[in-house]
Amino acid sequence: MASDDAVISTNDDASQCKRYAVEKGYWTDPYISLLTGRPSNIHTPEINRGYYARVKGIRLLVEQFLRMTQCECQIVNLGAGFDTTFWILKDQNLAPKSFVEVDFPTVTAKKCHFIKSRKSLLQKVANEDGDIKIDKYDLHGSNYHLVGANLRNINELDAKLKLCGVDRNLPTLFLAECVLIYMEVNHSATLLQWITDNFMSTFFINYEQVHMSDKFGQIMIDNLKSRQCSLPGVMACISVQSQTERFLNTGWPYADVLEMNHVYECLPRADIHRIENLEFLDERELLDQLLAHYCIGYAYKDPNSIGFHKINFSP
Ligand SMILES: C[S@@+](CC[C@H](N)C(=O)[O-])C[C@H]1O[C@@H](n2cnc3c(N)ncnc32)[C@H](O)[C@@H]1O
Repeated sequence: MASDDAVISTNDDASQCKRYAVEKGYWTDPYISLLTGRPSNIHTPEINRGYYARVKGIRLLVEQFLRMTQCECQIVNLGAGFDTTFWILKDQNLAPKSFVEVDFPTVTAKKCHFIKSRKSLLQKVANEDGDIKIDKYDLHGSNYHLVGANLRNINELDAKLKLCGVDRNLPTLFLAECVLIYMEVNHSATLLQWITDNFMSTFFINYEQVHMSDKFGQIMIDNLKSRQCSLPGVMACISVQSQTERFLNTGWPYADVLEMNHVYECLPRADIHRIENLEFLDERELLDQLLAHYCIGYAYKDPNSIGFHKINFSP
């Protein structure tokens, strides 16, 4: 399998894990089952809790950004896969002025097909007059856009974002959930630098692996390697420091990185209590190790003092 094909297939894993956890009751998402089939194998409670912390942790930051900008903003989801955040925000009346999803054309073609053929997805992306522009790889709705582009190719990304009408002067949140590690560090650095060079007020949320040089990290690398999926960006995922520096070295004035075990502690206690009662967890240690090997990094540039420094995980 060519390496991009292996990377593309990681989207099937992520969306199936999310569907599995949703069906177990970890969080609510009426849309994920419209984009991915039911996973055939059983997922452990550790995996489900890890996905819960990932989804809830990212959402906590995204919602703060939207409320702070009163939705007068844009979200660009890089390597979005079959993410459903747009539809969920729309149901909460929290959709931004423009929500753009980018992924390899192979992935966006599938997502275009699913959106076109599932009424509850289509209705939410269409213009008031029901009009959407759609071709094989790209879809343009009223405030939702889905475009096929290789994130390693900045010119292609730039051209596609222009077609979506992205406004570089509007506060813009970039999301990358388990994406940058699949790119060479020089490519992800070029991407991060391009954002700070071109967007006035911007916030970046990055969820991915950390502490990848220890024994547990090596097992994670071997596991992906066995599926022909290499991790060319792993050097940025060696420590909290390397994860922080990747932002500070690419024009982001402020960056912070939290391991997922710290994020887990910041999630609403009542909800944690609820999900911890969903399934019996045999070994807490395995969950702790798993959470310690993922992190949420966030960085921002806020020259107009919108208040991005107030966005954080404080419970
Ligand atoms: C692990 S999946 C995560 C999908 C989604 N962000 C989520 O968390 O559910 C990684 C995604 O990044 C995309 N991706 C990785 N490298 C990319 C690149 N160079 N250009 C475009 N998409 C890329 C893959 O196609 C895949 O959909």
